[in-house]
Amino acid sequence: MQLVTEENITDLAVERWATAKDPRLAELMTALVRHLHEFAREVRLTEAEWMAAMQWLTATGQISNEKREEFILASDVLGLSMLVVQMNHRLDPAATPATVLGPFHIEGSPDLGFGGDMSQGLAGVPLFVHGTVRDLGGAPVPNAVLDVWQADDEGVYEAQLGEVDEARLRAKYAAREDGRYCVRTIAPKGYTIPMDGPVGDLIGRTAISHFRPAHIHFLINEPGFEPLITHLFQEGAEYLDSDVVFGTKQELVVRFEEREPGPTPDGGSIDVPWIEARYDFVLQRQA
Ligand code: BEZ
Ligand code: FE
Repeated sequence: MQLVTEENITDLAVERWATAKDPRLAELMTALVRHLHEFAREVRLTEAEWMAAMQWLTATGQISNEKREEFILASDVLGLSMLVVQMNHRLDPAATPATVLGPFHIEGSPDLGFGGDMSQGLAGVPLFVHGTVRDLGGAPVPNAVLDVWQADDEGVYEAQLGEVDEARLRAKYAAREDGRYCVRTIAPKGYTIPMDGPVGDLIGRTAISHFRPAHIHFLINEPGFEPLITHLFQEGAEYLDSDVVFGTKQELVVRFEEREPGPTPDGGSIDVPWIEARYDFVLQRQA
């Protein structure tokens, strides 16, 4: 008979999980068991606390669905998502750095042409984000596709709404042969992460700010290059120093310059004041 004691339980559990057929799974599971046991020992976890944690995980699962990603949010606010991003994207310092994906990306956004407006019909100050997509040597990456998404001026993403008729504040933009791209949207604002679930409940018991600074999301996945998931943040935005998901990086902070009515970077013109943000994305070739 296997005699289990407080002293030997960790070794027994590690030994058992080391039998995973996939060696990497064995490595992951044995390390997880060791760290979980060590955590329980360190804090002398009580049964009531352990049960509360189980109930929190249950609630996190129950509120999740194909649109609501409460586990991603949990990972984000714990700083785990950003740690995993940083370890897995140790890019050249001259390349555009990666940041968190977040829970609101939707696949299959429509293709818009150069300067196409992804904010059709929504309130907000017009914003043109434009520049080039280049490699580390400065050569353009022709036809690179930028998958772009953001929140509306109330801080709400399409993924947080019920059914919508058309894609809302999300689109794909192909760069031109010379690597130039142009996105037309509305100026983003800072917003709160969803606070009506188990993650918000936990955050509400701390002094943590639950806001994110104003930003736009970009995903560029070009064959032959390291995939890039990133944001551009507005320079001077509130919460840049306290982003609840640890997603900010100095290199991703961009000046938003106010412009008078007149010509716009897509070659057209506009009869209201607008904002211009220039940014050159730099992709790193895969080794
Ligand atoms: C976002 O920027 O969309 C986001 C990222 C992490 C958590 C919540 C929202
Ligand atoms: Fe966001």
